[in-house]
Amino acid sequence: MNSFHDPVLLDESITGLDIKPNGVYVDVTFGGGGHSKQILNMLLNGKLIAFDQDPEAIRNTIKADSRFTMIHDNFRHIKKALVKCNIISIDGLIADLGVSSYQFSDNNRGFSLKYDAPLDMRMNDKVTKDGVFILNNYNQSELNRIFKNHADFHSPNVISSAILQARRVNKINTVQDLKDVFSNVSTTQNIKFLARIFQAIRIEVNEELDALKEMLSQALELLSPSGRLVVISYHSLEDRLVKNFMKFGNFSGLHEKDFFGNLLTPFEIITKKPVTPSIREISQNNKSRSAKLRICAKK
Ligand SMILES: C[S@@+](CC[C@H](N)C(=O)[O-])C[C@H]1O[C@@H](n2cnc3c(N)ncnc32)[C@H](O)[C@@H]1O
Repeated sequence: MNSFHDPVLLDESITGLDIKPNGVYVDVTFGGGGHSKQILNMLLNGKLIAFDQDPEAIRNTIKADSRFTMIHDNFRHIKKALVKCNIISIDGLIADLGVSSYQFSDNNRGFSLKYDAPLDMRMNDKVTKDGVFILNNYNQSELNRIFKNHADFHSPNVISSAILQARRVNKINTVQDLKDVFSNVSTTQNIKFLARIFQAIRIEVNEELDALKEMLSQALELLSPSGRLVVISYHSLEDRLVKNFMKFGNFSGLHEKDFFGNLLTPFEIITKKPVTPSIREISQNNKSRSAKLRICAKK
């Protein structure tokens, strides 16, 4: 057990990278370094470059290994950051998306429903817009957009109206303030409902879906032929983007054709269906229960 974060689908995802001992690999979500350490175990003279935007994750960096480079940045800047390291092509990339256990259990950052804290929710403290800003400054249509697009709510107006009404009386600053806005939702539905609200705000704060799209598009350019793309996602919005990108090379889910009418499919799909954790893994690490792993190889 790793107190920072237990790596999810570790063997399945690292096998999916099909590691060449002298290849160049990127772990764009270092976290506690579980996946990175396993990659290093399989490298000889290869290289591993890891990213994380959270300074707390950077503290876990792997020291005294000349094959390893840690980059404190958002993975949406992957291409620029790799060029700075003189890397223009890679043999594999792994992304284990979302939030680490450490971030969830930090009772000061507002990621979890469990702890009353300011609604910060930033993975990177350099980002200026936090959850408090969004909840108190976004207008109704902006709030509707995030609850619809980031949490699949079909009637986002009901939620945004409750927020607007509450903030006219008092600013919404903390986890408890936000819970209080929805205290009328029945207790059986309350936790799942609030979790979706929290997810929508967190995704907006960290621009998670835009960052994912930007990173995947650049990964396609960076991967060498037969290079592997391995992605673990934890909710349907991310998984849909990953699935479409691997299948069609775009996010719309529509086939693109070249000038001659041939289908443009940049990847060979390795996992026809997403790989999910075994019952054993879920019983040992309940946080893994929603994980979906998808793997493809660049053609
Ligand atoms: C689920 S954890 C990864 C855990 C890791 N695989 C391990 O075994 O410990 C996700 C990590 O990715 C980081 N992260 C999420 N989105 C990011 C982004 N856009 N750019 C850089 N890091 C990001 C988070 O800060 C967090 O540390």
